[in-house]
Amino acid sequence: MCGIVGYIGKRNAVPIVMEGLKRLEYRGYDSCGIAVLHDNQMDVEKIAGKVDDLQSRLAQAHWASEIAIGHTRWATHGEPDQKNAHPQVSMSGDIAVVHNGIIENFLPLKRELQNNGYNFSSDTDSEVIAALISTAYAGNLEAAVQEALSRIIGAYGIAVLSTREPGKIVCARYGAPLIMGLGKEEFFVASDVAAILAHTKDVIYLDNGEIGILTADGYETLTRKNESISKEVHRVSFDLAAIERGGFEHFMLKEIFEQPQTIYDAMRGRLLPQDGNARLGGIADDIGTILHADQRYFTACGTSWHAALIGEMMFEQFAHLPAEVEYASEFRYREPLVDKRSVIFAISQSGETADTLAAIQEAKSHGATALGICNVVGSSIARETKAGIYIHAGPEIGVASTKAFTSQVTVLTLLTLRLARMMGMSEEQGLEIVESLQKLPEQVEWILNQADRIAKIAQVYAKARNFLYLGRGVNFPVALEGALKLKEISYIHAEGYPAAEMKHGPIALIDEDMPVVFLAPKDKTYDKILSNIQEVKARKGRVIVVATEGDKEIADLADHVIYVPAALAFTAPILNVIPLQLLAYYVAVERGCNVDQPRNLAKSVTVE
Ligand code: AGP
Repeated sequence: MCGIVGYIGKRNAVPIVMEGLKRLEYRGYDSCGIAVLHDNQMDVEKIAGKVDDLQSRLAQAHWASEIAIGHTRWATHGEPDQKNAHPQVSMSGDIAVVHNGIIENFLPLKRELQNNGYNFSSDTDSEVIAALISTAYAGNLEAAVQEALSRIIGAYGIAVLSTREPGKIVCARYGAPLIMGLGKEEFFVASDVAAILAHTKDVIYLDNGEIGILTADGYETLTRKNESISKEVHRVSFDLAAIERGGFEHFMLKEIFEQPQTIYDAMRGRLLPQDGNARLGGIADDIGTILHADQRYFTACGTSWHAALIGEMMFEQFAHLPAEVEYASEFRYREPLVDKRSVIFAISQSGETADTLAAIQEAKSHGATALGICNVVGSSIARETKAGIYIHAGPEIGVASTKAFTSQVTVLTLLTLRLARMMGMSEEQGLEIVESLQKLPEQVEWILNQADRIAKIAQVYAKARNFLYLGRGVNFPVALEGALKLKEISYIHAEGYPAAEMKHGPIALIDEDMPVVFLAPKDKTYDKILSNIQEVKARKGRVIVVATEGDKEIADLADHVIYVPAALAFTAPILNVIPLQLLAYYVAVERGCNVDQPRNLAKSVTVE
């Protein structure tokens, strides 16, 4: 996902924009750049490299300007090189654009412009936007931007500068996040509030098709038809400290250790201890629709898809409501049998995942009710869905999702409880579940206190080339999640499997070089898991077990044991994943990997 930062005001814009780009580094990028206006001249500096490299380049240039736009690019069209870095500048040099998103019809537009004598200097789709604006300009920048965008099919968040109107930034969004920051006699535009939080907490979330015009004296927001509209100003609740590492070596470790608090926050104000029930205001009007739907779907990607699998199992087991889980990237192209009697839950930490966004748009086009379970307030998925439940995990900076996963599952347990009580679950069972949920923060704390021991276990296995993660029931998605954590940050191949499936193939892999991680809580399949562990040990496999506190029998079988407190099946997945998060983290650290920004990955996959 690309990062956008812009500033206009009375201060020097360059350090402000550069600092904002630094705060967006976590999204993953391969090039960056900045454009400034001074004395009706435009200066642009951009590189295939890191923000620090750009910073050193600028230090020699001594730029000073009261208006600038900057960009960090994660390549989608064109190599990550200097010419394809943003800002993209028009041929005549009058327009600079920074763009996040993808222009689906850029090739025919590029050909049309080339046939009219326009020469392009990059391979990007974004340069077409600059060309269209420059070509359309007839004395009013926002009108030229509107004209250009009317030709475009695709997703964009853009900020535009022009030498022709040097006291103005024009921004626009369709399908990619963009906010306007309101300071004291200064204004900001950004793709993520993290970039400008040091300067203001008052933000406006642009909606699809809307245009923002920023000058040093104020701002205006327009619809696509150039009608002026007033937008709600949101006060961002979290502060910069929430984004800093807070003394931890990596954001990922900080976020793992935040989980007692974030799990509590996911439940805050939503538990009804006296009734053995839960209250979810965001979907209060839709609870009947969910209950009486012909078909319920969960759609998501990656870690969020694992949370969806847990949601499906809990709906079935506790609320006796069938549901289907679909990879968003599959759902959107499968022509699913969805109609107005369907309900689809989109689960997404970022709320910007292109496949998930497209899946709900597809479902909505068939009349389905789309509900969101998101972390980022005002995100595209949160806006695209009719209603939803925010997980309140705070900004998740580490590319590998941890606290968002446990908060997603926490919210799904609350939703399951709410539905189950309407489907006949007794108050007594409800009270038992509420009590188990209230214990979660301290139980997670108890597990986190074993971090040093888990780090030592990680050192033993850090040189392995393959891992197998096995679990049954709700612990099968936990096994999948543990495997994903390991592979995405340590680059070790890891597979999650239902434990009983081992004998249908994976057992051929078992030898002394293959560590196998078992989720083996004392639950109804415990004895079966014991047999699976013995099968692995009989083939010289090395076994790490996540087991229930006090289980000595399993300790004699396994090579290493990590204990978690005893818990109901309802809350076990949240507890059982914590050791796997820590194991993956410490293995990756042991291997010297870039834990917060793993190679090839981005925090939010806003492209297909
Ligand atoms: C999780 O560790 C990964 N970084 C990735 O699979 C992620 O879960 C996936 O891209 C979905 O992101 P979302 O929750 O923001 O939609």
